[in-house]
Amino acid sequence: MDFFESEIFTYKNNELYCEDVPVTEIAEKIGTPVYIYGKIFFEDRYREFTDAFKEVKHTIFYASKSNFNLSVIKTFTDLGSGVDVNSEGELYRALKVGVNPKKIILTGVGKSANEIKLGLELDLLMIKAESEEEIYLINEIAASLGKVARVAIRVNPDVNAQTHPYISTGLAENKFGIDTEAAYTLYKKQNELKNIKFTGIDMHIGSQITKIEPFVEATTKLADLFLKLKAEGINLEHFDMGGGIGVRYENEKTFSVKKLAEAIMPILKKLDCEIFFEPGRYLTANGGILAAKVLYTKKNHDKNFIVTDTAMTDLLRPSIYRAYHHVQPVKLEIGRNNIIADIVGPVCESGDFLAKDREILSSNPGELLAVFSAGAYGMTMASNYNARRRAPEVLVSGNSFKVIRSRETFEHLLFDEKIE
Ligand SMILES: Cc1ncc(COP(=O)(O)O)c(C=O)c1O
Repeated sequence: MDFFESEIFTYKNNELYCEDVPVTEIAEKIGTPVYIYGKIFFEDRYREFTDAFKEVKHTIFYASKSNFNLSVIKTFTDLGSGVDVNSEGELYRALKVGVNPKKIILTGVGKSANEIKLGLELDLLMIKAESEEEIYLINEIAASLGKVARVAIRVNPDVNAQTHPYISTGLAENKFGIDTEAAYTLYKKQNELKNIKFTGIDMHIGSQITKIEPFVEATTKLADLFLKLKAEGINLEHFDMGGGIGVRYENEKTFSVKKLAEAIMPILKKLDCEIFFEPGRYLTANGGILAAKVLYTKKNHDKNFIVTDTAMTDLLRPSIYRAYHHVQPVKLEIGRNNIIADIVGPVCESGDFLAKDREILSSNPGELLAVFSAGAYGMTMASNYNARRRAPEVLVSGNSFKVIRSRETFEHLLFDEKIE
């Protein structure tokens, strides 16, 4: 049986390490479940990304929805990244880290009037608009504040990203963005919209995209619109490619950002403007694991179950997308049998599983398992269902680690709740 390893999660003497720290050491000190991230992974991925596009003027706006821990955001912003925020809450987090509002862009298909007002008051670099009504609302709020809003229209290019339907966002049937024709008509209203300055064009066609073609197709479509507007006197300052680059969870054939750059650079160069990117998963997913303890093993009829102390409340992706995550023992005990088992959690839902019918080394209660690729959309999708406390997060750097978010207490669960 092959064991999954990544750039920073490797086995040394049959024991899993994050960089130079044994996962067991963290689990013993902090308890389980626990998210463990490797700082150098985040830094390396960011550098790889920015290096791939060095031939064009560009800015990366780290999509904080993938992992919004303050220390993780800071790891990227320390390297020069901006931040893409999808809500007031994510904006609050970016500001807490000390990110300059001029390096923050505000995303979201359903921004509230309050979120738009806040974005304008803070003079964020750009607000994306996803409907005609939103454009008029932004114009109105900006007028009331005596400001001119910097706006990019998120265009839905109707391109099939060939990913899970729940994370496809660039098809006509998806709720996101404005179709190309309607977007063109709105850009042409620039003169009527006195409190809006259209500064850019934006796309984000989906997440966990493992083929380059959808990016090429969408970029080509939007570049045509960009150049058409330019020819008609509407000069946009930036072209936003969004995020969505897929990573290896199982054995997907993925592509490197270098390859993506090679494919789209000729299109981007023609635009002669600043290029924005909003990667999330690519920068974070494989930089993290979720370490858990085996509570029980059992057989129901002919089926094996490994019941762990982590659950859908810590990693929702398997439950909602049937997403695959490698699950492996932290210590590889030689001579053990492989079994086929469902790896499940304590939550009272049959949808509470980390893996189904998975071949795995048999394990015993008290032993540790690692759920891989948990650096993105793990903690940020966590919940308190079954009144479970959300798990702590640990950041490893070299041979040391820091707790960057503690395990929630029971007081957190009761925050401001009343008995009337
Ligand atoms: C607008 C926008 N930008 C960027 C991202 C980040 O996507 P990914 O993590 O796939 O790179 C998302 C994720 O859904 C998004 O909605």
